[in-house]
Amino acid sequence: MTQQGSTPVDGGWSVTIASVRFEHHREAFGIGENRPRLSWIVATSMARWRQVGYEMKAYGPDGRLRTQTGRIESDQSVLVPWPLEPLSSRERLTVRVRVWGSDGQPSAWSTHASVEAGLLHTDDWTARFVTPDWEEDTTRPQPAPLLRREFDVHAAVTRARLYVTALGVYEAHLNGVTVGDDVLAPGWTSYNHRVHYQTFDVTDLLREGHNAIGAILGDGWYRGRLGFNGGRRTIYGDRLALLAQLEINYADGTTERIVTDETWHAARGPILASDLYDGETYDARLELPGWSKACYDDRGWVGVRRFDRDLTTLVAPSGPPVRRTELVAPVAITPSPSGRTIVDFGQNLVGRLRLTVQGEAGQTITLRHAEVLEHGELCVRPLRTAQATDRYTLRGDVVETWEPRFTFHGFRYAEVEGWPGEVHADDIRAVVCHSDMERTGWFECSNPLINRFHENVVWSIRGNFLSIPTDCPQRDERLGWTGDIQVFAPTACYLYNGAGFLASWLADVAAEQNTADGVVPFVVPNVLPMPPIPAAAWGDAAVIVPWVLYQRYGDDGILAAQFESMRAWVDRIDSLAGEGHLWNTGFQFGDWLDPSAPPDQPADARTDPHMVATAYFARSAELLGQAAGVLGRKEEEAHYLRLAAGVRAAFDAEYVTPAGRVLSDAETAYALALQFDLLKTAEQRRHAGRRLVELVRESGYHISTGFVGTPLICDALCSVGEYNAAFHLLTQRECPSWLYPVTMGATTIWERWDSLRPDGSVNPGEMTSFNHYAFGAVADWLHRTVGGLAPAEPGYRHLDIQPHPGSGLTYARARHLTPYGLAECTWTIEGEQIEVVVVVPPNATTSVTLPKGNGTTIQVGSGTYRWVYPYHAPSHPPRSLDSTLDELIDDPEAWNTVVRTIRQQLSGLARHMDIGTLMLQNSHMTLEQVLSLLPPTDQVRPALEAVLATVGRVGVEGTG
Ligand code: BGC
Repeated sequence: MTQQGSTPVDGGWSVTIASVRFEHHREAFGIGENRPRLSWIVATSMARWRQVGYEMKAYGPDGRLRTQTGRIESDQSVLVPWPLEPLSSRERLTVRVRVWGSDGQPSAWSTHASVEAGLLHTDDWTARFVTPDWEEDTTRPQPAPLLRREFDVHAAVTRARLYVTALGVYEAHLNGVTVGDDVLAPGWTSYNHRVHYQTFDVTDLLREGHNAIGAILGDGWYRGRLGFNGGRRTIYGDRLALLAQLEINYADGTTERIVTDETWHAARGPILASDLYDGETYDARLELPGWSKACYDDRGWVGVRRFDRDLTTLVAPSGPPVRRTELVAPVAITPSPSGRTIVDFGQNLVGRLRLTVQGEAGQTITLRHAEVLEHGELCVRPLRTAQATDRYTLRGDVVETWEPRFTFHGFRYAEVEGWPGEVHADDIRAVVCHSDMERTGWFECSNPLINRFHENVVWSIRGNFLSIPTDCPQRDERLGWTGDIQVFAPTACYLYNGAGFLASWLADVAAEQNTADGVVPFVVPNVLPMPPIPAAAWGDAAVIVPWVLYQRYGDDGILAAQFESMRAWVDRIDSLAGEGHLWNTGFQFGDWLDPSAPPDQPADARTDPHMVATAYFARSAELLGQAAGVLGRKEEEAHYLRLAAGVRAAFDAEYVTPAGRVLSDAETAYALALQFDLLKTAEQRRHAGRRLVELVRESGYHISTGFVGTPLICDALCSVGEYNAAFHLLTQRECPSWLYPVTMGATTIWERWDSLRPDGSVNPGEMTSFNHYAFGAVADWLHRTVGGLAPAEPGYRHLDIQPHPGSGLTYARARHLTPYGLAECTWTIEGEQIEVVVVVPPNATTSVTLPKGNGTTIQVGSGTYRWVYPYHAPSHPPRSLDSTLDELIDDPEAWNTVVRTIRQQLSGLARHMDIGTLMLQNSHMTLEQVLSLLPPTDQVRPALEAVLATVGRVGVEGTG
């Protein structure tokens, strides 16, 4: 191998601190940790830079130095323990960091990074929840209450903070201005155990003299409808309530507090009804202009009363709030066949519409939302009972702008009714809303279909990371289904910084388990009406998601925080499985949505659900043992690793033959056995690997796995060296496959492989969402294996860079903002040459194994590296009637074309037998020989010759 330029390029000697972060906060404002761990990213073009020490200085709000650590000898730059006195409630500091590299040189000091604590103790709250003093019929949505009071402010305010939350959802106002840009605050948590409060800097919203504070409350998750089969309302309570504490500091050192108490007033506002599933109804004629401004006449308003609620459940958020992150303009506004106006945003997204409209008072505009059209009309059947309908009644005459506040929908299309005149593209925008996490991962390659697939994964995380990780954003669910995030967490953590977001959700998992004897409910927060029952792959989220966070962010604190939850789950399964270590009783989802399952039987998979259960039991026990090891809990480490070994032995005795065949003899079963290390001998692994490839080939490289097998199958194939098979699966375009939806115009990941069927009809099954991220979990394999960027040590401190070109791809690029900085791997094949460029962030190291290199693994430190060397991409002889079926099957495009052509030409025969299977059983024959076995027709041979001549021309780079 000729290798050029494999040494890093030194571009200068400057070392700076690019960013300083507290815990996982994007903005460390109003945080709940009093000893936030610090992380910093070093920027330098100096090669092989390693940190040997750091120093930190902390300054008060007056800019005066409070403390300094002096130089601390340490190579740690991620989640470094708080070296100062614990923060007290409300305390604000700025911190500067500098570091020393192994060359002995210090960096420049970082800029000031600010951190401010929220209210850390329950007794910091003098506010009390208040609720309007009126009776309501909570069997259906009620008008949204407005709450308000006025107060005076003296001169010289130095700082003002609003600490606020609601039982319900809220929007706070000060002097007529909306406070902050949060959407659907306080977000959804397991409200019975934890309620987030928000902290806002409102210094600039106050003015000397008369002021007013107010809030609008909506039902949201607290009181609105939740769950399928009609769901339930008022799950958490039937009274909406507000808790607000405005703290004003003056230059003279005094402080004043304006808190929710009986002095507030309430009135019903213009939101007549709001519901997350059903939508919002707003009558602008009922607006109360100036209601949150001073000197407003609220004599017609009613009082409020105190609402008793345990304030110890209040917590500061560890992740970012839901925000509006993008406005999307319509790509088309067209009449439907029945004459309705349909707006197409060209992208399936999550959020709501914003209208700008002028018309007569009293006219009502109705907006219905859907992800797909059927026969040119809005297809709302997949939404099940969710109405997804917003209504706006005009105030009249003036230009009015409106966006619903307390609802969201999953949609690409909206039907607009009652619009005064014609709807113009400028009048309407889709407002994309989700938890505002930082984007940290990118992937692209030379195949536009794969790129669109990847983009769809990104849109599905955007649509489903809305306060909690949900299954889907559109129908009457939108719940924190544990199985979905269990399989998707690695992908999510690459694409976005999901650490704080998922840590919050995991705290809810733990809280829910406490009241369920260790069982992890199907959904968290748990709103299902039945008592929680354990289900494998779903409940295992309690163990696997913290482990993923540890791997991806290097955060052992999350393991410590979740350890009891992880253990409670494993112990519970242990007691169910008993001495025999087989979890073979009770309900299981199993390999949910196996494509062979009928539309109305999503659990009817080929893989034995109890086999899945025991496999996951082994996996979770193993990870728990490893987590105990990380935390230095020696006894537990030994106990759970022993348990895992026992479960593996039981699995082996029950489900694996001595030769290595696995029961069930299905792809998911082999993928589990290989990926969860459930096979005892190398020979069993080899055998299982061979059988897995056989099955995958027999399926014609169509997906044959459901929720459990799909995230594992490509890794399982690669683990036994079958990269080509994994690539064939990936690049398959026929249904079922990852790319089939892309060829059907998908812009998000679908719940079912055939949510939209090849004939264009919408799958009639109950589970037909067009925005479910679970099957997008293969993106993690794309990042690690095709892009070649994988963590080898927690937090990517050491990377494992091992890109694998395949399937005719000529280029791929993976970029990830690791906790140490941006890591990158790009490979490009041009002619007979490959170029690999690798970027390793400062204070990290990597192993590089080059594609078709000389087999050695190179160890390098930070820097940019480039290798160029001869590379012969595998090629195959042109396809013809002399090709064997074995050759054709490994070229999914050729195979599909041949099978399709024979089916068309011999349709009579195709009705009686599956031609694909027939051909596979004779795979050593040439196509010519097969034709001689089939009924003679005049057309089949020329038709095949014609299509074979075109195969490979479009190649995987085609657009399908
Ligand atoms: C959800 C899934 C979930 C499943 C559990 C569905 O209704 O949408 O994604 O994991 O139920 O079986």
